[in-house]
Amino acid sequence: MIRAIYPGSFDPLTNGHIDIIERSARLFDEVVVAILTNPQKAPLFTVEERLDVMREILQPRFKNIRLDVFHGLLVDYARRLSAKVIVRGIRAISDYEYEFQMALMNRRLSPEIETLFLMPAESYSYLSSRLVKEVAELGGSVKGLVPELVEQRLLAKLRS
Ligand code: PNS
Repeated sequence: MIRAIYPGSFDPLTNGHIDIIERSARLFDEVVVAILTNPQKAPLFTVEERLDVMREILQPRFKNIRLDVFHGLLVDYARRLSAKVIVRGIRAISDYEYEFQMALMNRRLSPEIETLFLMPAESYSYLSSRLVKEVAELGGSVKGLVPELVEQRLLAKLRS
């Protein structure tokens, strides 16, 4: 039984994240999609709002995923869950430096946990939650980049 963790901010969930979740769910017995609660970041969506959307979109579609929330060190959380693998999506070379640093720091902290990088479909290679928020905030369309429910929640949030 191999359990993997796919950690992230998911603020908001994009089709790029879903692509990585789909690939991970095919590879591992269980994938824990874990939202970081980071008091230093000011997210657009609260953790509860993100969980709610992810529950609605992901749970009917993937049978071997679990949603969770964590704080503190990722490797401590992974150890608590007995997860052997951390999955991260890597889009372009520009992601590599940050991801490489994180993977090696995590390895130093917890050598028994492996970080695995997966590439999303190339159509999502430029997609990020940050750009989705920026485009939506400035009135651009994010259709096809995020699930419809996320699009609706984004528009509602920006109207409020
Ligand atoms: O979606 P993101 O914001 O790129 O995800 C970043 C995340 C959550 C994977 C990273 O910030 C993280 O693991 N934070 C937990 C704190 C931690 O373990 N820090 C040391 C990492 S080397």
